[in-house]
Amino acid sequence: MFDVGKIRAEFPILERKVYGKPLTYLDSGATAQKPRCVVEKMEELLLNGNANIHRGVHLLSEEMTARYEEAREVVRAFIGAAHREEVVFTSGATMSLNLVASSWCDKNLKEGDNIVVSHIEHHSNIVPWQLATERKGAELRVIPVAEDGSLELDMLDSLINERTKVVAVTQASNTLGTKPDLARIIAKAHSVGAVAVVDGCQGVVHGGVDVVALDCDFYAFSGHKLYGPTGIGVLYGKRELLDAMPPYMGGGDMVDKVTFAKTTYAPVPLKFEAGTANFIGAIGLAEAMKFLQSLPADEVEQHEKALLDYATSELQKIEGLRIYGTTADKAPIISFNVEGCDHYDIGMILDKMGVAVRTGHHCAEPVMARYGTNGVVRASIALYNNKEDIDTLVKAVKRAVTMLK
Ligand code: ALA
Repeated sequence: MFDVGKIRAEFPILERKVYGKPLTYLDSGATAQKPRCVVEKMEELLLNGNANIHRGVHLLSEEMTARYEEAREVVRAFIGAAHREEVVFTSGATMSLNLVASSWCDKNLKEGDNIVVSHIEHHSNIVPWQLATERKGAELRVIPVAEDGSLELDMLDSLINERTKVVAVTQASNTLGTKPDLARIIAKAHSVGAVAVVDGCQGVVHGGVDVVALDCDFYAFSGHKLYGPTGIGVLYGKRELLDAMPPYMGGGDMVDKVTFAKTTYAPVPLKFEAGTANFIGAIGLAEAMKFLQSLPADEVEQHEKALLDYATSELQKIEGLRIYGTTADKAPIISFNVEGCDHYDIGMILDKMGVAVRTGHHCAEPVMARYGTNGVVRASIALYNNKEDIDTLVKAVKRAVTMLK
């Protein structure tokens, strides 16, 4: 059986008190806490192993280069990619998505083409495509969202046509928890020759991914939401696509030969890794993945789902509380508002009771507009949360509502 007590012991921050109260951390959608093994690995490397990669002839540099490339292999296996060259280390999902929107679109997007995103995307899976369409005179199209937070996929046939070059969707919405039917969306994108880009930030941590089975062309995620460090992320891309794309940033490590007349580039993935890479971060991310691989994935998922169901049913008992995103198979994310109370005020009061949630538009303003609100309270659940966390949340929301009404 999944032993949440044993898991919690690996996350020292959960022992912390805030305002004298035990910490109830329900903001893992913004950033997940780090298990001891990730921090210890990074500390060990910083204290005893630090040296730049791909550059030195000395032992420390060779050791770190080997570890960095081993980390790439861990990521490859974790996401089910066929080749390690398909794993590009970036600073996070935002950079990964910008890289594709810039590099792939510069070469392939033409005036009169269109890019299709969904209404439930995080800004980082909207704005880079908007910039690309503006640069090229192309059109941005949007798959609408239904009241329950599901995507209106019947619209795919009218939105996606032979001028569609990119279809970019999330694996799991950071506000509604919705997990779109990616297989259907990707198949439709491919039927017109478009590339399918998946924002895996909230999806990779709740259920994982197999990029080959999914058949997406690009897949982006951040390390810090996957129990890894900040400042490191991944772009997966099918090799033939990455090979054909121009570099995104120029600098050291991404070149083959540089002259003033002409520069040739290193093969992928280094072509996209200009400058000193966040090698300690990449190794920390690999450590987080190893930690997750040591746990029974189906039990983790069941645990999170049980907490989601419990929290949903308890919160729904509060008069005037509305949950946004009610699809059956959603990620363990609950966004809500209570009639007559401001989301920010609820968040502030919860904080004083030791409960960490996020409030606001969650970098998903179109979602907020769809539901006619300027913000919501969001509780996001991770594998280290337990039933007491949910009880504390519910009690704190009830108290906040009493104070605010
Ligand atoms: N994108 C992160 C969130 O949803 C920060 O909170």
